[in-house]
Amino acid sequence: MERLQKVMAEAGVASRRASEKLIAAGYVTVNGQTVTTLGTKVSAQDKVEVDGVPLHREKAVYYLLNKPRGVISSAHDEKGRRTVVDILRDDEIQERVYPVGRLDYDTTGILLLTNDGDLANKLMHPKYEVAKTYIAKVKGLVSNDDLKQLRLGVKIDGRRTKPAKSRLKETDRVKKTSIVQLTIHEGHYHQVKRMFEAVGHPVIKLHRETYGPLNLQGLQPGEFRELKPEEVRQLKQH
Ligand code: URA
Repeated sequence: MERLQKVMAEAGVASRRASEKLIAAGYVTVNGQTVTTLGTKVSAQDKVEVDGVPLHREKAVYYLLNKPRGVISSAHDEKGRRTVVDILRDDEIQERVYPVGRLDYDTTGILLLTNDGDLANKLMHPKYEVAKTYIAKVKGLVSNDDLKQLRLGVKIDGRRTKPAKSRLKETDRVKKTSIVQLTIHEGHYHQVKRMFEAVGHPVIKLHRETYGPLNLQGLQPGEFRELKPEEVRQLKQH
């Protein structure tokens, strides 16, 4: 037996909190009876409907993808471009998963996909945002001062980015490019590209190598795998 709001969140209806509001507002029925009590528990056999629509209950699944360049980080694309979900579909993955956060079309690297709305919301919430490490190839020779600015925070859209970690990995003095490792805990739109832009080093190539406790070991671009129960537990504990 599981709490109704948890079942709703796992089915992708809304976050657990928002599901509680739907329950309290009388939108939810269990076996035809409206339920407004928040502690209510349901089993796999109970028929849950939200606003008259049966809940499509799937077991929670978690996949880790090494996103290749040239795919969209969403479940659907209006322009019909290939999405990260298409990559899983090609391998007969049937669950309705969606990506936790986004990587740009041209960004490669680690991306979590799940149908567990509750965990996805938690991981993306500014309060819990997990550490994400990026490797950026940028224009110009990055100085110690640039690294310090990235660490302390730079202004993007009038607000300062939170403390980050930055480390110079390589410079190419002939081509005038640098490779920098940057770890951030936020996930604003184009955050990494805009941070480098702010210190005068536009990004040429971007790759995300870690997401919280997870890394890409053993996954080639375009490959994915299911998370191990222990990894799911670690993410939930975060
Ligand atoms: N920041 C970016 O600018 N792009 C990404 O894809 C991810 C983080």
